[in-house]
Order: sequence, then C-alpha cells, then structure tokens
Amino acid sequence: MSDTTMSLAGKRVVLIGGASGIGFAVAALSRAQGAEVLIASRNAANVAAAVERLSGTKGATVDLRDEASVSGFSQNLGAFDHLAITAGDWDGRLFRATQDLDLAAARNGFDVRFWGALAAVKHASRLVAANGSITLTSGMLTHRPRRATLLATAIGGAVESLVRGLAVDLAPLRINAVRPGLILTDHVKQMPPDMQRTYVAGLPLPRAGSPTEAATAYVYLMLNSYTTGQILPVDGGGGLV
Ligand SMILES: NC(=O)c1ccc[n+]([C@@H]2O[C@H](COP(=O)([O-])OP(=O)(O)OC[C@H]3O[C@@H](n4cnc5c(N)ncnc54)[C@H](OP(=O)(O)O)[C@@H]3O)[C@@H](O)[C@H]2O)c1
Repeated sequence: MSDTTMSLAGKRVVLIGGASGIGFAVAALSRAQGAEVLIASRNAANVAAAVERLSGTKGATVDLRDEASVSGFSQNLGAFDHLAITAGDWDGRLFRATQDLDLAAARNGFDVRFWGALAAVKHASRLVAANGSITLTSGMLTHRPRRATLLATAIGGAVESLVRGLAVDLAPLRINAVRPGLILTDHVKQMPPDMQRTYVAGLPLPRAGSPTEAATAYVYLMLNSYTTGQILPVDGGGGLV
C-alpha cells in the first residue's frame, strides 16, 4: 500500500530518545493519532516516568553507545511500522572553539547521534514494515554554524549524509531526518535566556519552537509514503538567513 494515510491509528511506533524533549512530544503526537507507542531511552527511571506520563505507552531501555544493547533491544521489538531516533546527549565539551576542543570528547560526540543512530538502523530496520519509515535527527547548526558549534555542525552533517546513503541502501524503506532549530525542551530551557535569544535572533520567526512543532515533522515523515532521503527543517526559517 503506497497511498499516504493521514493517521497512525493501529501503527506501531518506536521512539529512541522518547523519554524526554522532542522524542516525548513525538510519542505524545503519535499516541494522539492512535499509534501503539514504545518509548525507549538509556535511563530506566526516565523511561518509567515517561510511560507514566503518557498513558497507553510501553517502555524499554537501550543504550545507543553499546551495540550489544541495541542488538538485544531490537531482538525484543517484533515487527513495527515507524522508528524515530531523537537520542542525543548534551555534552558541553562539544560546544567549544576549535583550539579549546577536547578531542576525545569530540570523538565521543558522534557516539549517540551518529554511530548510535546507525546501530539502531542496522539492527532494527529489518523489523520495520515495508511501507514504514525511519526518521533521524540533525539540527539547524548543521547549515547555520556559529562560533564554537563546529562539532554540532559536523555531527548534524554526518547524520544528514547518512540519511541520504541509507535511503538508497535500504530502499524501498523510507529514511528521512528532521532538522530542528532551537526547540524549547527542558535542556534548552536551562540555557541562559540571552543565549537562547542569540540562536533565534534574525530568523523570519524569531523565537524557539515548541517540542510539539518539532514532533509534527516526524509524524509527517511517518505518514507521507512518497518521501525518502529528505531533511525536513523545523527552524523558524533558519535556512533563509
Ligand atoms: N532541542 C533543541 O533545540 C535541538 C536542536 C537541534 C537538534 N536537537 C537534537 O535533537 C535531539 C533531541 O533533543 P532534545 O532537546 O529533545 O533532547 P533531550 O530532551 O535531552 O532528549 C534526549 C533523549 O536521548 C536519550 N539518550 C541520551 N543518550 C542516549 C543513549 N546513549 N542511548 C539511548 N538514548 C539516549 C535521553 O534518554 P535518558 O533521558 O534516558 O538519558 C533522552 O530521552 C538531540 O539529538 C539534539 O541534539 C535538539
């Protein structure tokens, strides 16, 4: 069946990174659309709290830095329809100017968002329905670098290129990414307001987005059965300036 349907009713949706932030908003929106939702992330207590907050969901733990963990997690999944990966660890050591970088931390910066995403796709893609989808996550800094964000730019670029390669390699399975701008998750709310403002100043929509605004893009990519290899920005027009 190739027609785009406008509902996730009855679909099984797996969200790695779903315990908080953007991933949790995708879980909530998918659930509201009638999907069966599995919330997965690294910390069991956070998963349990998320499942408690969002009734009708199930939870599981997985550490994307550990291929054995990803493999074990995938073996317990069974067939499902859509996978979204929003996992990421906010390591402040990645946000340093070039000459101040800790190169070990810089290497590790790829572990969750790039290598972890690839591990999840490697082990879980065979379980995804033929008309299903996988959605990864990059970020506005990929194409709008600022001072001391070069690693976020590099990691996002690697993820976006990975999506293009996977979309051809795993076709007809659909692989896309969402490129969020500044999204007001709990982590972002902890940033000083001045810093938040510098990220959105000059945008056509000069404010941060909500997790639900970001989540809408993931759900769109799940629903549209003729979209693959695409990067969907949700960034207040950040690509224009
Ligand atoms: N928010 C923004 O403004 C923004 C902008 C551009 C890009 N992004 C990217 O979008 C993604 C989501 O951002 P967010 O603000 O929603 O972050 P968040 O609230 O911190 O959520 C990240 C999730 O990733 C999970 N996670 C971390 N390490 C993991 C690991 N090794 N294995 C499995 N799960 C792991 C966390 O699980 P636990 O809670 O269990 O540790 C958490 O559920 C990140 O990749 C971020 O870089 C965000």
